[in-house]
Amino acid sequence: MREKPDHYTNAAKEQGYLARSVFKLEELDRRFGLLKDAAHVLDLGAAPGSWTQYVLRKRPTAQVVAVDVAPLQLPAETPNLTVIADDMFRPHVLERLDSLAPFDLVLSDAAPATTGNRALDSARSAALAEMAVEIARRTLGPHGRLAIKIFQGGEERELLRHLRTEFRSARACKPRACRKDSFETYLLGFR
Ligand SMILES: C[S@@+](CC[C@H](N)C(=O)[O-])C[C@H]1O[C@@H](n2cnc3c(N)ncnc32)[C@H](O)[C@@H]1O
Repeated sequence: MREKPDHYTNAAKEQGYLARSVFKLEELDRRFGLLKDAAHVLDLGAAPGSWTQYVLRKRPTAQVVAVDVAPLQLPAETPNLTVIADDMFRPHVLERLDSLAPFDLVLSDAAPATTGNRALDSARSAALAEMAVEIARRTLGPHGRLAIKIFQGGEERELLRHLRTEFRSARACKPRACRKDSFETYLLGFR
């Protein structure tokens, strides 16, 4: 059973986080200093909200913009949080994000609903990752950083090559909190 509670699920519960995914961001932040001096953060595919929670706990004065088609499970009145309850592919969402830019950090943990067809799931994940990279290209400020999820087995190598042309440096990293049977990884870019 894929959703069996494990160490990370229990730790997330104990620490009041909405999802175990928080420990993926925590590792990426610890290893690569993602949140260092980040005052304005964009979280794409943010629901239920553990990455946004992490950013707001770690940098209480940061302004966070969270985008998801699904509802965030955070109180509506959460200080320093702007929620865009919409699809990140929609042109008016891009226009809104342009108007809220620049960001210091663009995060995307966006993932498609999986079908079990790995080629199809990877293609959908790649489309989300490419959109996140395009949003980052338009909205990241100088010294901005990017961390995005992509399913392996599709276009992750090609997208990493692309990131290396857009960013001063880029790399892939699979945090330990990724489930053993998961084929996701994260691509990072540093301006
Ligand atoms: C793995 S969850 C994110 C978990 C989140 N990082 C957290 O820690 O709570 C992936 C999210 O991507 C969202 N998503 C998928 N496609 C999207 C799209 N086109 N626009 C916005 N959100 C999308 C899903 O609704 C889902 O909530």
